[in-house]
Parts: sequence; structure tokens; C-alpha cells
Amino acid sequence: MIKVLFVCLGNICRSPTAEGVFRFWVKKYKLEHAFEIDSAGTSGYHQGEAPDRRSQMAAAKRGYSLVGQTSRQITQTDFEYFDYILAMDKQNLKDLSRICPNQHHYKLQLFLSFIPQGKMLEVPDPYYGGEQGFNRVIDLVEQASQGFLADIEAKK
Ligand code: 4NP
Repeated sequence: MIKVLFVCLGNICRSPTAEGVFRFWVKKYKLEHAFEIDSAGTSGYHQGEAPDRRSQMAAAKRGYSLVGQTSRQITQTDFEYFDYILAMDKQNLKDLSRICPNQHHYKLQLFLSFIPQGKMLEVPDPYYGGEQGFNRVIDLVEQASQGFLADIEAKK
């Protein structure tokens, strides 16, 4: 079982989208038995809330579902439990590095680092922008999900 945690700031836009998109492809490839998937925020600003409506809409338009997700803040237990802790931007990664015990640091990575020959390393925060930003989040996490799955397959 490979345990994957997606992390952004609020856990209402980017990391829930990454979770929903990654889940979709894992199911599509019939790999559900091989993965445990979750997401969290570096902050607890939106603790207990469902994903942002705009993220839900953008996801639904592309055939993805964020239904059933609720925002939560990352905990110390998560660093121990998960195998991959995938940050949406460099600030998230920095914030995670600061609170992650040393022996688990190797688990921290930018999610977009899995896009082969990718030019973007960060998923831009769509929270204060328009619909286009939310669609861009989907584009980027789709590519990273495919790259991540290919990387894991290659390591088998
Ligand atoms: P996320 O987006 O980190 O992708 O979930 C944000 C959500 C909320 C806030 C910032 C970013 N906020 O400042 O409340």
C-alpha cells in the first residue's frame, strides 16, 4: 500500500483537487488496492469545510468529483504515516519542512516535480482569482498525477 498525502495551504482548493484527480486515475487504472490517498492543509483556516465551490465546479466539468472531502490541517502523525507528502507550492513545502521530523523529510516533494520536462513547479493558488485559475489547477494536477503513476510503475 502506497500512502499519498496532497498538501496545500487551505485544503479547500488545490490539494482536494489533486486528491480527486489522482483518485480518479488510480480507479481508472484499477490500482485502488495499491493506494491510500488523502489531503491536508498547512493551515487549519478552513477546518471541517467542504472544498471551495469553484474547485468543485471546475472538477465536475472535467469529470472529477471532490464529494465527501473535508478540510483538515496536517498533523505530526501524518509525517509518520504517509509515504509521499506532495506539496502544491514552494511555500507549502517550506512550511512542511519546518514541522516535519528529520527522518521523514525525504517524503516531502513538490507534486509538479513529477511532470516530465515540466516547466511549472508550483500549482498557483486560485483562491483570489477567477475560473481560469481553477481550470489551470486541474490541468497541472492531471499531468502530475500521470507522471507520478508512471514514476511509481517504473520503480516496481
Ligand atoms: P488552497 O487555497 O491552499 O489551494 O486550498 C487557499 C484557500 C484558502 C486561503 C488561501 C488559499 N485562505 O487564505 O483562506
